[in-house]
Amino acid sequence: MPSRADRPPRGLRPIRRNLLLGAPALGLGALALGSCAQAGATTDVENILSVSLNQTEDHPSFLALSYFGEQLAEATDGRWGARVYANESLGAQQEVVQLVSDGSVDMAVISSTQVENLSMRFLPLGLPGAFADIEHQMAVLQDESIVGDLFSSLEPEQRLRVLGGFTQGSRHVYTDRGPIEGPEDLSGLRVRVQESDVFMELTRALGASPTPMAYGEVYTALQAGVLNGAENNEVSYVTQRHYEIAPHFTLTNHLVGLDYVMANVDRIESMDEGDQLAFSETFGAAQEEFVRLWVEETEASTQHMIDAGVEIHEPDAEAFAPLVEEVGRSFLTSPEDEALYEAVQAVAENMGNER
Ligand code: GCU
Repeated sequence: MPSRADRPPRGLRPIRRNLLLGAPALGLGALALGSCAQAGATTDVENILSVSLNQTEDHPSFLALSYFGEQLAEATDGRWGARVYANESLGAQQEVVQLVSDGSVDMAVISSTQVENLSMRFLPLGLPGAFADIEHQMAVLQDESIVGDLFSSLEPEQRLRVLGGFTQGSRHVYTDRGPIEGPEDLSGLRVRVQESDVFMELTRALGASPTPMAYGEVYTALQAGVLNGAENNEVSYVTQRHYEIAPHFTLTNHLVGLDYVMANVDRIESMDEGDQLAFSETFGAAQEEFVRLWVEETEASTQHMIDAGVEIHEPDAEAFAPLVEEVGRSFLTSPEDEALYEAVQAVAENMGNER
């Protein structure tokens, strides 16, 4: 794992590498084998799992997955490790999920939006209003009775296993102009969204014109004026350096987002039983480490925004919330979806009662 001193200082745009797009033809598996001493890699292990990520090397996902690789190597006496490929270097999430499915890449962090595009069964967990906060989200992810079948539902056909998730925290809108006090201030502004029907609808409800685009393209599109803004959490806003060009951050709180960590099931099952157990225990520990890093980095990012002169706007609580709730409800169209959504809400109610 790189020390903080090795990482690029904030304020410099990370260099994006797309050298491995079209990875299947390049034989990524072979490329990931052997020992390597680069950032995010476990050194001197027999089998290295390739892990695709669209975040920078100072993002909590990169740090937690690098930690996962180190712990895995230790727990399996060097039989298995992991190498994290940052900055979309293996491709954007939409392509990468296919690469994990066909076994060219072993693992990836994939936003819930892209998983919904594979299977609508995941939709209720990606709706505005599904999660009250990170604690609620983590409790749902630990609840086998809610997510057990869902997380293995892609195994038979897609060979994809959902190992668990990392929070995206609360997402907010940011723009090249401001202040944004209500939907009327977003009217006519082109706001980037993930490639997802829910986000298209949600952004329209917030008052803006949604523009779907891969994460790694957003900085350049903002810079070129193709976009007036985007929406994300504080950590992505800072690590992607979007604040340099869109310095108005409006606390719309429209959704607590979720990233799934997915793996190719054949690759996992190629491990012996003991190593598979070590794999899942180590992943559990990395998930906990992620939450710790997330809380720390959200605070640090907010401070970074303040120091960089970002204008943080706090609109009236009623300006956006009812619009967002309505979008959430409009996507619950089947009894199965409603049942899953309600099971998720029940976890929050129980947690509320226990507090
Ligand atoms: C967050 C999330 C990513 C996602 C991104 C996006 O940063 O963690 O997985 O790709 O938002 O808006 O595309």
